Amino acid sequence: MPKSSALVCVHCSARYPVDRYADDCPACRSAGISANLTVAYDTPPGTGLRPSDVPRRPRSMWRWEAFLPATAEQAVSLGEGDTPLLPVPDLGLGDVWIKDESRNPTWSFKDRLASGALTMARQFGAKVIASSSSGNAGAAAAAFAARAGLPCVVFTFVGSAGPLVLQMRSYGAMVVKVTDKADRWRLQSLGVREFGWYPTSPFFGPVIGSNPYGMEGYKTIAYEVAEAFDWTPPDWCVLPVCYGDALYGMWKGFEDLKALGWIDRVPRFVAAEVSGSLTAAMASGEEMPPEVPRNAPSIATSIGAAQATVQGLEVLRRSRGAAVTVPDEDLRRWVVTLAAKEGIWPEASSAAPFAAIERLRAEGTIAPNERCVALLTASGLKDPGPIEEALPEPPLVQGGLTELLAALKNSYGFAP
Ligand SMILES: Cc1ncc(COP(=O)(O)O)c(C=O)c1O
Ligand SMILES: [Zn+2]
Repeated sequence: MPKSSALVCVHCSARYPVDRYADDCPACRSAGISANLTVAYDTPPGTGLRPSDVPRRPRSMWRWEAFLPATAEQAVSLGEGDTPLLPVPDLGLGDVWIKDESRNPTWSFKDRLASGALTMARQFGAKVIASSSSGNAGAAAAAFAARAGLPCVVFTFVGSAGPLVLQMRSYGAMVVKVTDKADRWRLQSLGVREFGWYPTSPFFGPVIGSNPYGMEGYKTIAYEVAEAFDWTPPDWCVLPVCYGDALYGMWKGFEDLKALGWIDRVPRFVAAEVSGSLTAAMASGEEMPPEVPRNAPSIATSIGAAQATVQGLEVLRRSRGAAVTVPDEDLRRWVVTLAAKEGIWPEASSAAPFAAIERLRAEGTIAPNERCVALLTASGLKDPGPIEEALPEPPLVQGGLTELLAALKNSYGFAP
């Protein structure tokens, strides 16, 4: 295991102490830029290992302990990670693979973040976990806090998806609702500053992204993908993006592997977003993604925030990537297509990469022979409401075979 030796600014590389995980970079702040910090190590992660040395066990992201700030033994783990990478050649999108993060313990990729964050919370002696989240991040924080035996306060808002809030409550989190979304961060900040609560999520603006130790967990997505392709990385990785945590973490993971010489290049990254914040920054060249308020909320609630982060923009710039703003009708169409054609039911936000690949292939940005990995971040069960209207209402059948056949024909156009 490498030892974390500093937290480093994702934008200007200034170095800070390892326990400065609840703040942005002061050097950038004085220049009007809000930037997250990321973990730096005393030796490059994975030093001295060969690919074949990576242990098969435990069956979780902690088999990559040589790249992470804690050991598998120290980990707060529920078996997160080690998710399937599935080819989907029949989608009509060319060479595309789905990294199916809906198979995680709380059914989203946020388990990797929560496992990393909670593991280090225990190392730092944290007493209370705090998360501001409308959904998946809060559910994951709640589950891993339960696993760690730590109390957890989750700030959410009136109108967030019912199943997700129920999930947080089931894990025993103290869920607090607010009517004004901005109050979540105000209240969490008070808890962090006054009582030393340990934040796993963003909690002040302008937003920078999540807990740096949690972000390390996302590196393991890159390791798993690279290993699955025998250390020949895909050409593109396409992610649904809100704060760009997974985007940054996954990119950083590929950078680790390139530094070791296990891969010869880092994929290009695409942010599939609904706000348009990164799309605007890529077009204008400005240093911070702007706030881009929408007229109406997207059905992809999980990625609905109006502003992206500097860390996300860094990845798009450094990887020669792209941002695509995805409309609701494309999200609905791709949720239904993935579920009905492939048997994989994503949350609406997790359908965004498919709409983005479709667009970028059509434009020629992604060449026909180039391989893409789409990160399917969460299960459709998390927020099923918005998809219901895109599906036929099941008919009520009373009677025998004649009525059954009539119903199948009328509702589904099916004749045996
Ligand atoms: C299902 C889902 N997909 C994607 C995201 C985007 O996360 P990130 O902050 O890593 O960009 C989130 C959460 O914000 C989410 O819940
Ligand atoms: Zn900085």
